[in-house]
Amino acid sequence: MSKLSCTIVGGTGYTGGELLRILSFHPDAEVTQITSRSRMGEYAHTVHPNLRSVCQLQFIRPDDVQRSDVIFLCLPHGEATAQIERWATLADTIVDLSADFRLRDQVAYARWYGGTHAAPQWLDKFVYGLPELTRAQLKGARYASGVGCNATATNLALMPLVKAGLLDTSQPIISDVKVGSSEAGAEATDASHHPERSGAVRSYAPAGHRHTAEVEQMIASFGQAPTQTLTQGVYMSATSIEMVRGVLATVHCFLKEPQQEKVLWKAFRDCYKGEPFVRIVKTNTGIFRAPEPKILSGSNFADVGFALSDDGPKVTLLCAIDNLMKGAAGSAVQCLNVMHGFDERAGLQFPGLHP
Ligand SMILES: NC(=O)c1ccc[n+]([C@@H]2O[C@H](COP(=O)([O-])OP(=O)(O)OC[C@H]3O[C@@H](n4cnc5c(N)ncnc54)[C@H](OP(=O)(O)O)[C@@H]3O)[C@@H](O)[C@H]2O)c1
Repeated sequence: MSKLSCTIVGGTGYTGGELLRILSFHPDAEVTQITSRSRMGEYAHTVHPNLRSVCQLQFIRPDDVQRSDVIFLCLPHGEATAQIERWATLADTIVDLSADFRLRDQVAYARWYGGTHAAPQWLDKFVYGLPELTRAQLKGARYASGVGCNATATNLALMPLVKAGLLDTSQPIISDVKVGSSEAGAEATDASHHPERSGAVRSYAPAGHRHTAEVEQMIASFGQAPTQTLTQGVYMSATSIEMVRGVLATVHCFLKEPQQEKVLWKAFRDCYKGEPFVRIVKTNTGIFRAPEPKILSGSNFADVGFALSDDGPKVTLLCAIDNLMKGAAGSAVQCLNVMHGFDERAGLQFPGLHP
């Protein structure tokens, strides 16, 4: 069987570069077109030097894209909706990594992203692209959204308790997220200037982070706590730390009643048994006792864990991912695999690096 042909729109960016790397070793898909407005005509490796001698493609203008089987849109916020009708004429399968099609609810979109959605008729056509949550809907789907990286770390930490009905949604759910610099994309800004960014512990979204919407949507999707009945709500704080890749979500929340640790173990095992990319990390010895983003660099694994407070129903949930992989390009390829019935692990076997 011939491989699926894939186009990466926004191929000079960090998520586009990761897609190109992953798909270069995919058994069932290959990248045939990559776009850039600023580096048109240049070879991929001039922007992504790790792909020297791996990828021979040159960047083309977005306007020159020809038909392919799949289009990955790796564009800034708002750009996917702007041309979604055109992209849909150029491929049967679209995976959009931006936030444009992540939220099902237009009201939630307006609240978190400001203004009305530019292509609301497309919202129902897209499946939220987190296979651990939406695998059934992704099978055979034509359109998948990407995921927010901070949302993904928070969602994978919370999901076992939500699914098991253990979470008390009348209490606040507080996600403290520490993130690496690549989350901000490849374009340089004042904030990314090395003397300003290096060594920083910068609280860039102490309240009101947009990815909160995806966490509310996840909780609502289990039908146990529709967003409007969350008494206290979900609160997310994001802090940039000295890391290039990685997200660590530390989620503070409450159980409906105090539980023994074995009940939480069961909830986590039940939720993630058979999941190819989620690992439960909780040991009493060694230095990697809890999820740690450092060892996930370049990997699609999400490491999850938990710690109960001694005196009651308070629990701390943890999830570490690589923002560019499980938080973006890795999940996007995992979605493609599910949508097209490939082995879900295809192209995604890299385990990360240690040390
Ligand atoms: N970075 C992350 O950790 C992460 C995680 C999850 C999701 N995401 C989302 O994924 C998307 C891409 O993120 P990124 O970090 O890869 O961004 P990025 O590094 O800034 O790359 C953006 C890409 O889009 C191209 N581009 C910009 N404006 C365009 C336009 N109007 N038309 C066509 N191409 C355009 C750029 O190249 P040219 O200017 O040369 O055309 C570049 O290749 C964003 O929506 C982001 O929110 C990112």
